[in-house]
Amino acid sequence: MEVVIAPAEELAVLAADAIEALLRRRADTVLGLATGSSPLKVYDELARRHAEEGLSFAEARGFMLDEYVGLDADHPERYRNVIATEIAERVAWPAERVQGPDGLAADLPAACAAYEEAIRAAGGVDLQILGIGTDGHIAFNEPGSSLASRTRIKTLTKQTREDNARFFDGDVDRVPTHCLTQGLGTIMDARHLVLLATGRHKAEAVHQLVEGPVSALWPATVMQLHPHATVLVDEAAASRLQLADYYRQTYASKPSWQGL
Ligand code: GLP
Repeated sequence: MEVVIAPAEELAVLAADAIEALLRRRADTVLGLATGSSPLKVYDELARRHAEEGLSFAEARGFMLDEYVGLDADHPERYRNVIATEIAERVAWPAERVQGPDGLAADLPAACAAYEEAIRAAGGVDLQILGIGTDGHIAFNEPGSSLASRTRIKTLTKQTREDNARFFDGDVDRVPTHCLTQGLGTIMDARHLVLLATGRHKAEAVHQLVEGPVSALWPATVMQLHPHATVLVDEAAASRLQLADYYRQTYASKPSWQGL
């Protein structure tokens, strides 16, 4: 696992560089997309490169991590709509090439199985962007999630609903109680995991993710078992890392030919 500690703007550039390198190598790259505030600067940087440098998403495929259950099709916080606004429309990504689990399906387990199959049929995810919840969840894999889980329905914790109430006019009662989410096993199948975290409120989750024992109590710790995982954090999110100096030293002396 590589840990990079840098200001948020630099982290976004590093993540965008990794995505651009993939897209330039293979136009039909498969990207894993995350919602939440953590990837927003990356999406801004990709939109800039699309507008100013012609970076094309026309042939790429996108798979979202998760979706609320039951939000109306036109609800602005429905993750499908969030991803459309935050990234897909800004880079002229054809709508049919970006998919998410269907939180409005009549048969939710069937929708989850179909989503797993769609990811497999696309050849799997090349690079998965991730954020992390303050309780250590990735996607919506809350504490207690099986480390081998696949796409399924989950109940959101009180903490996550409170954290996300800011997107629902601060009213926790308007945050859905359930979601569909890629499982930890699904996420672990992606070929490169790139997690972004900024702010002191993420420091404990980041410490556990990088340095804690692998445990369902801190679901993101499963990433320690991934052969290619990158953790991009600012100083505040890195403030509880025991080996922060070593991560800094490693990154400072990294050969320039080695990307993320
Ligand atoms: C949500 C999303 C996660 C995201 C997390 C952190 O619950 N389902 O994918 O990583 O929140 O959000 P933020 O980046 O806004 O802190």
